[in-house]
Amino acid sequence: MRNPFTPGNGIEPAYLAGRQEYIQEFIKSLKETEEGLPRNIVVYGLRGTGKTVLLRHYKILAETNNWLFMDREFNERYCNETEFAQVFGKDLIAMAAEVSIKKKIEETGKKLIESLKVEELSGYGITYKPYHGEKREVLEDYLKELLESNWPVFEKSNKKGVVLLYDEFHLVKDKKEDQQYVLSSLLSAIAQVQREGCRYVLCLSGLPALKTNLKEAKTYTERMFNYQEVGNLDELEAEKALTEPLKKTEYKFESKLVSQVIEETQGYPYFLQFYGYFLADNAKKANVLQSDLVQNKNKLLKMLDKSFFEDRFNLASAMEKKALLAMATCKEKEIPAKYISKKMKLNYMLMQKYLVRLIDKGLIYRAQRGYYAFSVPLLQDFLKRQ
Ligand SMILES: Nc1ncnc2c1ncn2[C@@H]1O[C@H](COP(=O)(O)OP(=O)(O)OP(=O)(O)O)[C@@H](O)[C@H]1O
Ligand SMILES: [Mg+2]
Repeated sequence: MRNPFTPGNGIEPAYLAGRQEYIQEFIKSLKETEEGLPRNIVVYGLRGTGKTVLLRHYKILAETNNWLFMDREFNERYCNETEFAQVFGKDLIAMAAEVSIKKKIEETGKKLIESLKVEELSGYGITYKPYHGEKREVLEDYLKELLESNWPVFEKSNKKGVVLLYDEFHLVKDKKEDQQYVLSSLLSAIAQVQREGCRYVLCLSGLPALKTNLKEAKTYTERMFNYQEVGNLDELEAEKALTEPLKKTEYKFESKLVSQVIEETQGYPYFLQFYGYFLADNAKKANVLQSDLVQNKNKLLKMLDKSFFEDRFNLASAMEKKALLAMATCKEKEIPAKYISKKMKLNYMLMQKYLVRLIDKGLIYRAQRGYYAFSVPLLQDFLKRQ
């Protein structure tokens, strides 16, 4: 019997639960942008809540609605203006080349961007020039020009516009100390070309820090984006996430089991997949009972700790682990920094240094000024098991 559950990173679940409203909103954003009211989207949430999976759906929706898309997963490296300008230019030009010279690709069967010279691109209406970071070229102007001058290519292609689908984008932020302003440059370039009627839609996804980064980069971001918080599934949707995938199999989970899984996972999408997979994998009969979970609970927790929590916990140094364990003793979801420093018996400044490192490692985030929270759901329970 095939196991229908999909614990993993960005792996399409057999049933996408609880995201219908956001999907409708995405389609509406495309429509409104088409009608002249540009709409951008931010998808944010903790690790393993289903951001990448949702973004993949948006990609398919963009295609079926006759939009082009540009997608990429980012990392810290792209806080650097030159690095960002390079990949941005490469992605945009590759797409422009693809739509405008599609025929030629079909004829030659070559990968175009590699085979075509920059001079040849201009013959197809494509504009490209390299970014001169060393001459302090203003990134915002560079991006704006690239988007603006190539817009006619997309417009002529009978496509409605271009969606930029950017994952892990909380890692791309302004770095004032290094005078690198990638995030604010991108936001203002997009806002400007949108005002001029170029139909680009920006869809950013990442950990909750993304929201703070955006606000710090530009004050007008609240009006520029619809915010979609991707979180735990409610009871009804969590139930569907467990039962729908089973419909095409011989497995059946009794309802008491389903309820217990929902309670233990709190509807957290990754854990629902993990529990489901584990239960199907360890089932002796097609009819899986609550007692099967109870009997195998220690094995499940061990596997979960091994495959999910330990790797994450071990990213932290000894002192950082101490900070995490101190945080785990707090009952609040948003933990005051003062509480952590008191528990660690460490002065505030020094403790903050460790917290900043934990943020960089994606284990915690700054919930608000002076308050911190875990980025990984149920990490607190894991820490208590330690
Ligand atoms: N709506 C959903 N219904 C059921 N399962 C889902 C849903 N969304 C995601 N999942 C499952 O949850 C897991 C995590 O999904 P995904 O990798 O998209 O999360 P993420 O938010 O991108 O995590 P990260 O922040 O670590 O990148 C996957 O195993 C996926 O199959
Ligand atoms: Mg992801």
